[in-house]
Amino acid sequence: MAEREMWATRIGFILAAIGSAVGLGNIWRFPFQASANGGAAFLTVYLAAVLVIGIPAILAEFVIGRRAKTSAIGAFSKLGRPRWWFVGAIGVVAAGWTLSYYSVIGGWVIRYIVGATTGAALADPGTYFGTVSVGIESVVVHALFMLLTVGIVAFGIEDGIELATKFMVPSIVVLLLGLAVYAFTLEGAGAGYDFLFTADFGAIVDNAGTVIPAAVGQALFSLSLGYSVMITYASYLGKDDSLLSDGLTVAVANTGVGILAGLVVLPLLAIQSGGEISAEGGPGAVFVAIPTALAELPGGSVVGQAVGFVFFAVVLVAALSSAISLLETVVAYLVDNYGFARLPTAVGLGAGIFLLGVPSAWDTAWLTWFDNISVALFLPLAVLFVVLFVGWVLGADAVAELREGSNSPGIATVWLWALRTVVLVAVIGVVALNLYDLFLV
Ligand code: PHE
Ligand code: NA
Repeated sequence: MAEREMWATRIGFILAAIGSAVGLGNIWRFPFQASANGGAAFLTVYLAAVLVIGIPAILAEFVIGRRAKTSAIGAFSKLGRPRWWFVGAIGVVAAGWTLSYYSVIGGWVIRYIVGATTGAALADPGTYFGTVSVGIESVVVHALFMLLTVGIVAFGIEDGIELATKFMVPSIVVLLLGLAVYAFTLEGAGAGYDFLFTADFGAIVDNAGTVIPAAVGQALFSLSLGYSVMITYASYLGKDDSLLSDGLTVAVANTGVGILAGLVVLPLLAIQSGGEISAEGGPGAVFVAIPTALAELPGGSVVGQAVGFVFFAVVLVAALSSAISLLETVVAYLVDNYGFARLPTAVGLGAGIFLLGVPSAWDTAWLTWFDNISVALFLPLAVLFVVLFVGWVLGADAVAELREGSNSPGIATVWLWALRTVVLVAVIGVVALNLYDLFLV
C-alpha cells in the first residue's frame, strides 16, 4: 500500500483547520441564531462554550487523530479500543449528512455572487431569494458547489486541501477586514455594534432552556467539532507539532473571524432595518437582509453590486474551505479502511451526498430540518462520546499525546481533569437540553 499522506507544513495544517472552522457557520448561521436567541446574550454563552467545551474538545479530537494516524472510525481500534468505533461513525455519518445541505447553501452563495454583480439580487431581495433557493434553480447550483468541493478533495491533502486553504484563509481575513472597515464608515452602523455587544442577560435567564443549547451547539458547530473532521485532519499530522497551540490558534481565529463577520453583517442589517435588527430569521436571513442593505448603500447601485460581489465571494471561499473538510472526513474513511483510490471515492461520495441534499435544495423546510438534526442531535452526542472517551478511557495516553511536541506539559493534566469533570458535565447538560427540546416539547 502507498504511504499515507501528510500535511507538508505545520502552517498548512493550521490553515486547513481554520478553513474548516471558518465557514457558513460564522457568516450565515451565527446571525440568525443570535437574533433568534437574544442577540448579544447569545454571544456571551457562545464565547463561554468555546472556552469551556470547545477548546478542550478540539484538543481531544486532535489527540485521537494524531495518535491513531488513521481516519475517524478506524482510529478507535488503532488506539486499542475497537468498541468505541461508533463514536467516529456518528461523526462520519454526520459529516456526510451536514455536507448535503451545506452544499445547498454554498450553491445559493454562488448564485448570489452572480446576482449581486448583475444587480438582480438587489432589486427585490425577498422575491429573489424565494426564487433561487428552491426547486431546480437551487438543485443546479448545489451540484455546482459539490463539484468544486469534489475537485479540491480529489487532489488529496497536500496538493488539494493544503494548497487551496493556503490561499483561501488569508483571502477571507483580508477581504472581511476591508468590508468591516467599509461598514464602519456607514451612517447607522452603530446600531449593529450595539446589537452585537450589548447583552440582555434577562433574555438568557428567561429562555435558558433554548438559548444555552442553541449557543453551545453554534459554538461547537463553528469549531467543526463532533463531525470527526478534526480527528481526520489531525491524523495527517506529525509528532513535532504542539496540538495545544494549534488548537488555541484555531479557536481564536474562528472566533475572531466570527466577530469580524459580525462587524460586517450587523451594521448592514442595522442600516437595512433602520436600527431595529429583528429576530426575523431562518436560513434566508442573510440572503435577504444583506442584499436589501446593499441596495441602500450610498453611492448608488454600482457600490452595492461591488460590495455584494466581494461579500459573497468571501462567503463562497469560507463555505468551500469547510465543505472540503466534511467531504475529506468521509473520503478518508473509505480510503484508509478499504484502500479505495481517492479520486473515484471523492466523485462517488460527492454524487451520493449531492442526492441526499436534493430535498434541502428543493424546499428550505428540509434544509432547516437537516441542520437541526445535525447540530442538535449528531453533534452533541458525538462530542459527548469524544469527551468521555478521551477523558476516561484514553486517560494517561491522551495526556502523553498532548505533551508530544508541546513545551507546556503541565497543561495536559489540567486539560484531562477538565475533560473528566467540568467539560463532561457541561456536555451532558447540553445533550439533555437538546434531547428535551427535540423530542419533548
Ligand atoms: N465549522 C463550519 C462553519 O462554521 C461548519 C463545519 C462543521 C465544517 C463541522 C466542518 C465540520 O461553517
Ligand atoms: Na465556524
